[in-house]
Amino acid sequence: MNKVIIILYFLCFLGAGRRGFDNALYQHADFPIGCAVTAGQFLKYQKYRRNILCYFNSLTTGNAMKMSYLHPSVKKYNFKTTDRVADICKKKGLLLHGHTLIWHSDYQIPDWMKNYTGNYKIMLEEHIRTIVSHFRKKVSSWDVVNEAIIDNIQNPPSEWKKSLRKSIWYSNAGTDYIGQAFCRANEADSNVDLFYNDYNLINNSKKLDTVIAMMEDFLKHNIPIDGIGFQAHILVDKPAIDNIKKALQKAVKTGLLIRISELDIRVNTKGRLARLTPEADAALSERYREVVFAYRKIVPPQQRAGITVWGICDGSSWYNQGYSRYPEWPLLFTDDYIPKQAYYGFIKGLTAYIPEKKK
Ligand code: G3I
Repeated sequence: MNKVIIILYFLCFLGAGRRGFDNALYQHADFPIGCAVTAGQFLKYQKYRRNILCYFNSLTTGNAMKMSYLHPSVKKYNFKTTDRVADICKKKGLLLHGHTLIWHSDYQIPDWMKNYTGNYKIMLEEHIRTIVSHFRKKVSSWDVVNEAIIDNIQNPPSEWKKSLRKSIWYSNAGTDYIGQAFCRANEADSNVDLFYNDYNLINNSKKLDTVIAMMEDFLKHNIPIDGIGFQAHILVDKPAIDNIKKALQKAVKTGLLIRISELDIRVNTKGRLARLTPEADAALSERYREVVFAYRKIVPPQQRAGITVWGICDGSSWYNQGYSRYPEWPLLFTDDYIPKQAYYGFIKGLTAYIPEKKK
């Protein structure tokens, strides 16, 4: 009899979920719920790692897979850190989202690329092919190109090439570098999901229309793209939830996968708060709820590629690393890994009932 009880206990334990914790965000969702991590901390600090593994089932390295880190000199790739992150993800059953193969941001472009005198097109192709092949079966999706469209759009969406950012890539690899990047990534790994990722797609409808026109053009010409990433670095009161819904609705019409790829929510934009008050946390909680709920309501299950929060504890948010004038509390956990009210707002958004649409 005792043996039977022990076996039953063991089976219950196995069935209790990947890590035996019953209130993790991902357990409430039928799509991936991710977190951006600092790779170094993830590998070094057991507590940091443990908390991420406990609550999320998808992971993005916030910096470590950018160009300057993975490809520091012309013939040298540095996969050591990210390989270790990828191994842990595989072992623990988390998806790894690669961010990002191509980005214009000066700080993340290695000097050798900036000073390159050879053929940029060939150099970019080799960069993409090497990295994507290396992470085959380890990375489940990639941001192939990040932030390639400008904010101040002056041309109609159909003329999206005129709204490309005049980046080092645009200037040296030509206007078709984005489409080419998707083709090369697909050749290197045809099983991975390939995303275009950008900011201000919610509150700048001209920009969203332009991105969508570019995506539709790619689809028309059989360029292998799978989805659009909405970064969603938003405020507690802006943009209005209706605008978020409208933006998601427009993107859904493309039939592509939709990710909310870098969600965080600022609450102290006017600098009035010296600490996170219960009222401010409650407002954040409500905001997380409505955004997560809107995603579920608007994006059909087959197009949901997931929601990723841009960091775990408030203190480590990019806003508190010199990118904001005032302290911010944009994430789901305190610096002691205690779930904030915002965390429970996120769960409410994941679990609230959505009536089925009448056919
Ligand atoms: O690694 C150096 C370290 O050696 C040095 O001591 C320290 C001193 O400032 O800086 C460290 O580098 C910082 C790096 O993050 C790694 O922590 C850079 O200064 C800092 O500028 C860099 O910021 C990152 C930023 O992208 C620029 O790459 C943020 O962490 C990261 O959250 C942010 O993420 C971007 C997405 O990639 C694209 N979408 C917007 C999002 C937020 O800006």
